[in-house]
Amino acid sequence: MSDTHTGPFIAAIDQGTTSSRCIVFDKDGRIVSVDQKEHEQIFPKPGWVEHDAAEIWTNVQRVVAGALAQAGISKDDVKALGITNQRETTLLWDKNTGQPVHNAIVWQDTRTDALCHELGRNVGQDRFRRQTGLPLASYFAGPKIRWLLDNVEGLRERAENGEILFGTMDSWVIWNLTGGVNGGRHVTDVTNASRTMLMNLHSMEWDESICQSMGVPTAVLPEIRSSAEVYGEATGALAGVPVASALGDQQAALFGQTCFDKGEAKSTYGTGTFLLLNTGHEAVNSYNGLLTTVGYRIGEQKPVYALEGSIAVTGSLVQWMRDQMGLINSAAEIETLASSVEDNGGAYFVPAFSGLFAPYWRSDARGVIAGLTRYVTKAHLARAVLEATAWQTREIVDAMQKDSGVELTALKVDGGMTSNNLLMQTISDFMDAPVVRPMVAETTCLGAAYAAGLAVGFWSDTDELRANWKRAAEWTPRMDAAVRDREYKSWLKAVERTMGWIE
Ligand code: G3P
Repeated sequence: MSDTHTGPFIAAIDQGTTSSRCIVFDKDGRIVSVDQKEHEQIFPKPGWVEHDAAEIWTNVQRVVAGALAQAGISKDDVKALGITNQRETTLLWDKNTGQPVHNAIVWQDTRTDALCHELGRNVGQDRFRRQTGLPLASYFAGPKIRWLLDNVEGLRERAENGEILFGTMDSWVIWNLTGGVNGGRHVTDVTNASRTMLMNLHSMEWDESICQSMGVPTAVLPEIRSSAEVYGEATGALAGVPVASALGDQQAALFGQTCFDKGEAKSTYGTGTFLLLNTGHEAVNSYNGLLTTVGYRIGEQKPVYALEGSIAVTGSLVQWMRDQMGLINSAAEIETLASSVEDNGGAYFVPAFSGLFAPYWRSDARGVIAGLTRYVTKAHLARAVLEATAWQTREIVDAMQKDSGVELTALKVDGGMTSNNLLMQTISDFMDAPVVRPMVAETTCLGAAYAAGLAVGFWSDTDELRANWKRAAEWTPRMDAAVRDREYKSWLKAVERTMGWIE
């Protein structure tokens, strides 16, 4: 720990799609130490993605120990622990042994396509939207629970007997942290629950009739709590430290970017990209393909809602170029390669690997590269990869402006891909609006730390948190409008070609 950081501290765990990490923060919201560990991505069949939840729990324990050791502090210096996590990823485990009954089914997994199609066949994709804010799509947890209950032998009966627990990764981590089989707390927070398709967005309770239609017994479901309150005390290496927040990672980033006012928005560029707009205490319905979701709820205060535009594949496309295609050696290399050419050479890459999320919600879509000629090089493809993220951002921003009537004056960004200057410039060009990045780009962990700190009185209120937000970089648009319009049309043509691939 450097001399500039004085305790006490707040620690946050981010259980993400590709890795788990722990970050220790000081009172000014500055990073004191970070530890991170990747876990295996398991692809059993095309469109299927799984994680080993036992590996994840081991990694979580390691990174907590690692971050504390790097900071040179003990658990007594940590006033609270916050949790944030990849959302929707679904796990069922045995309450008595603590063993997962199957690998976790990851949010990107499309195996519940047919099930969602069948559920929506008669009444349409928006069957549950009024209650849950979500369209019927393989992305969400409810259909994944149903798939597990239908496909793991004997599981439904055990679930109905109360032997099985469901959780997204927040619940799994909190249950283990607070004692596991020895009295672990089976809870989730409103933001994570709002991604199951089983919670009523207005009452903040499980919706019995939807659970019934989905074939999910309520006995498996965790208790829904606010995002910032003490759920219990940690055991093990952090024995006695209050576990005091849980937020889905995108909602945590909204909190970490201090988007506390209605009309404030952020976009996080990770495995996927997720743009959230704070809509205050009103759950705004979307007519343009966005999700209505819970932004956060602090203790007993009224919930704050958000409109969300979700893009399934952005950073993971760069990883795919590296790991499956071997076209680059490191993720950072994509910028160098893309910068070596002036433009995309006529190529457009629509990475509909998990179908298309917002604003289309087409599970039947699959990826395409359109516009190929002999002229196209791997550098043009690298450029098309970055442009895919930027065009998808533009589509979400357009939908958000239509739904909310709010003109975005600037977009606050964060996440791993924001170190890519070419990408940030391209986003600003395609949106025709400025893009700004804060000093602390680790806003996901920061948001979880802020919520935990508020719950235990480490920080007094959101105004104190807002004062910590400092601008580090800004990109402003410099693209010719006619070129932008022409390119956008080509992009939209390429998008059309992805649809209907799966019968
Ligand atoms: O909804 C999925 C999202 O929470 C995953 O986020 O950052 O792990 O890609 P990330």
